[in-house]
Amino acid sequence: MNTLKNILVLFLIVVLASCSKNISKMDASESSMISKKVDSLMGLMTLSEKIGQMNQYNGFWDVTGPVPNEGDAANKYDHLKKGLVGSMLNVLGADEVRKVQKIAVEETRLGIPLIIGFDVIHGYKTLSPIPLAESASWDLEAIENSAKMAAEEAASAGINWTFAPMVDISRDARWGRVMEGAGEDPYLGSLIAKARVKGFQGNNLSLPYTIAACAKHFAGYGFAEAGRDYNTVDVSISTLYNTILPPFKAAVEADVKTFMNAFNILNGVPATGNRFLQRDILKGAWGFKGFVVSDWGSMGEMVTHGYAKDGEEAAKMAVNAGSDMDMESYLYVKYLEKLVNDGLVDIALIDDAVKRILTVKFELGLFDDPYKYCNSAREKEITGNKKIHEAVLDVAKKSIVLLKNENQLLPLKKEGLNIAVMGPLGNDKHSPLGSWRGEAADNSAVSLMEGLQLYTGNSITHQMGVKLTEGLPNFTTETIINTTDRTGITEAVAAAKNKDVVIMVLGEHGFQSGEGRSRTSLSLPGLQQELLEAVYKVNKNIVLVLMNGRPLAIEWADKNIPAIVEAWHLGTESGNAIAQVLYGDYNPSGKLTMTFPRNIGQVPIYYNHKNTGRPTYPGGNSVFWSHYIDESNDPLYEFGYGLSYTTFKYENLKLSTNSLTENNDIEVSFTLTNTGNFEGKEVAQLYIRDLYASLARPVKELKGFEMLSLKPNESKQVSFRIDRKMLEFYSANEKWETEPGDFKVFIGGSSKTVLEGYFECK
Ligand code: BGC
Repeated sequence: MNTLKNILVLFLIVVLASCSKNISKMDASESSMISKKVDSLMGLMTLSEKIGQMNQYNGFWDVTGPVPNEGDAANKYDHLKKGLVGSMLNVLGADEVRKVQKIAVEETRLGIPLIIGFDVIHGYKTLSPIPLAESASWDLEAIENSAKMAAEEAASAGINWTFAPMVDISRDARWGRVMEGAGEDPYLGSLIAKARVKGFQGNNLSLPYTIAACAKHFAGYGFAEAGRDYNTVDVSISTLYNTILPPFKAAVEADVKTFMNAFNILNGVPATGNRFLQRDILKGAWGFKGFVVSDWGSMGEMVTHGYAKDGEEAAKMAVNAGSDMDMESYLYVKYLEKLVNDGLVDIALIDDAVKRILTVKFELGLFDDPYKYCNSAREKEITGNKKIHEAVLDVAKKSIVLLKNENQLLPLKKEGLNIAVMGPLGNDKHSPLGSWRGEAADNSAVSLMEGLQLYTGNSITHQMGVKLTEGLPNFTTETIINTTDRTGITEAVAAAKNKDVVIMVLGEHGFQSGEGRSRTSLSLPGLQQELLEAVYKVNKNIVLVLMNGRPLAIEWADKNIPAIVEAWHLGTESGNAIAQVLYGDYNPSGKLTMTFPRNIGQVPIYYNHKNTGRPTYPGGNSVFWSHYIDESNDPLYEFGYGLSYTTFKYENLKLSTNSLTENNDIEVSFTLTNTGNFEGKEVAQLYIRDLYASLARPVKELKGFEMLSLKPNESKQVSFRIDRKMLEFYSANEKWETEPGDFKVFIGGSSKTVLEGYFECK
C-alpha cells in the first residue's frame, strides 16, 4: 500500500507541479495544460474519491486538536482522512488551515489539497463598509481595491476562496440581506459585481494573496416574498432575465471561478435543483467553466420545500441540475456512489463536477504548494496593516451619503462649537462593523466619538439617551431591542440644551440586518425616535447620523431635522470616516443605490418600475389612478440621490443626432457646473426609457454614469455615448434584442433627472 502511495505521490509531483502558473484569464494553452493534468489525476481516482471532491464540510471543533471519536465530527474527520472531503469552510488562520491541509495532502491516498472557503464579505479582520454602503460610493476603483485588500488579508490567514460577492438585486428593504448586495439596479450591480470579482481574484489567481470569488445566490434570492428571508420567490421570465440575472452574467464575464446557488425556490423549483438556471443558463448559454457550490444545507432543504421525496432524491436532483459541491447537507457523500452504481446518475456528471472543482484548485496553485496560504509570519505581517486600513478608510468616506443639509449646518466649524453627541450608536465600537463581519474582533471599530475626538479632544461629551440593545449582539442569535428603558432620555435632554449642535447617532445595530434579519418596520428601532423627538424639543440644531444596513423610513426626521448623514455600517474605520465628513475634510459624494421609502407600505419601491396605465392624477377628485389614499407614491429619497456640501447645475443637453442606427451612435452632452462654495465630486447619471416595446419597459433605466470632480464655479462638458447595444433587453421573443422605436434620454444627479431629450432607434 505504501509503495503504491509513493508511486502516486511521485507521479503527482512530477506531472502536476508544472501547473503552477495561473492567470485568471488564462490563455488557451495554459488552460488546456491544466485540463490535461486534471484528466490524468481523475484517471487515478476512485468513484468515492471523486465524490469526495464534491463534499464540503464546515470546520469541526476538534479537527485540529485531539482526534474526535463521536458524532458528526468523528465522521467528518474520518472522511477527511479517507479523501472524501474536497473543501472546508470556516477553518481560519494560517496554522489551523495548515493542520487540515496536512491531513488532506499527507494522509489521504492521492493527497489532493482542500480548497478553503469563508465568507469574506466586506473584509476578513479589517472591515470595509458593508457592501450596500460601498455601492453608494459608485466608485468602482475603490470597491475593487476594498475587495483586493480583503483578499490579501484573508489569503494570509489560510483562506483561498470567498463566498462573495453577493450580487442579488433586491427591491425590498425588509430583507435583511440587502446589506450584502449592491442595491436595486442591475446595471450598476453588474459593474460592481465585476469590480469585486476582479478585486478578489486579481489577474493571477495563483498568487498567494488572490482568492477565488463566488457569485451568489443563484438565483432570485433577493426577491423573497414580503422580504422574509428564505421565503418563496415567484418572478416572471422578464424580471429574471432583465433584472436578476445581469450581475451574475457580469460575474461570469469577469471570470468568476465559482457560483453559489440559493435557498429559495424559484417559480416552484428550488434553486439548488434547478437545471434551467444551472445547466441551461449558467453552464450552457453563458459557458461558465467554474463550479457551483450549494448554499448551506440547501440540498437537504429541497425535501423541506416539498420538492424532493428524501435526501437520496435531493442528491440526484441536485447533481443532475448542475450543483457541483454539497455544502453541509452530507447528501453527496452519502448517496451519490449508490446513485451512480444504480444507474440513476450518469458518471459523466460526476466527472464534469470534479473536473470543474479540480481545475479551480489547480488555478489557485494548490497542487504546486498546498501550504501557500499557510504562512503565519505573513499572516502577522499583513493582518491589519497600514495599507489595508487606508483602503478601508478611503472607501468608508466615499460610501457616506448626505441626505439633507438645511442652512448648511454641515460641515461643522472646527473651532468654537459646543457640541454634544447623543444616541446609542455614538460611542459604539461593535455595531459599525455591520453584519457578516468575518473574523473582526468584537468592538474593534473606531466609534464616532473616537473619530470626533481627533478634532475636538476630550471636550466632547456623549449621552447614550436610550440603549438600543440588551447585551452584546452576535451573528447567530436574535438581537434583543430595548423598548422599555427610558431612564437616559431626561439626562440627554438636559445636556442638549445650550449646545450649538447636537450630533444624534441612531439607526440599526450591526446585527439587525444580514441573514435571517428581516424586519416588518423600517423605523428607528426601539426608543430612538422618542429620544430624537425629545431632544428636538429643546434643540433644533441636530445633525442626525444614521448607522444602518438597509434603507430606513425616516419621514419625521426628514421633515424636522436640518442635517441627515447616512453613514451605514462603515466597518473598522467608521468613526474616522464620519468625522472627516462632518468636519468637511471630505466632501460627501455618495449616492443611494436603493430607494428610501416614506413608509414601509410603499415597499417594494424602486426607481425602474413600470408606468402602469394610470400613473398620474387625472384631476377632479378622481381616485381611479395608481396611488395610495394615505401616502404619496414618491419615495423619501430616490435611487441615485445624495447631496454634497456644494451644489451642481446641469444644463445645455445636446444630442449629436436624434436617430440611432447600426452605424451611427448618439453622443449626449451637457454642461455640469459647480455652483456652490466647495470643491466637490458629483456622479452624473444617464437614464433611458424605451417608450413602447414588445414588453412594457421601465420608466427609466440607468445606462451610464461618470464621477466628476469640480472646483467652485468650474464647468465641465460631459458626454455619454448611446449605442444600440445599450437598448437591448430580454424581449417577448425570449431573446436579447434591441427593438426599434422611440426613446427618451435623461440626465441628472439622481434618478429624479433634470434634463431630458428624445431619439429614435431605427
Ligand atoms: C449563506 C451563504 C453563506 C453560507 C456559508 C449561508 O447561510 O446563505 O451566503 O456563504 O451560509 O457561510
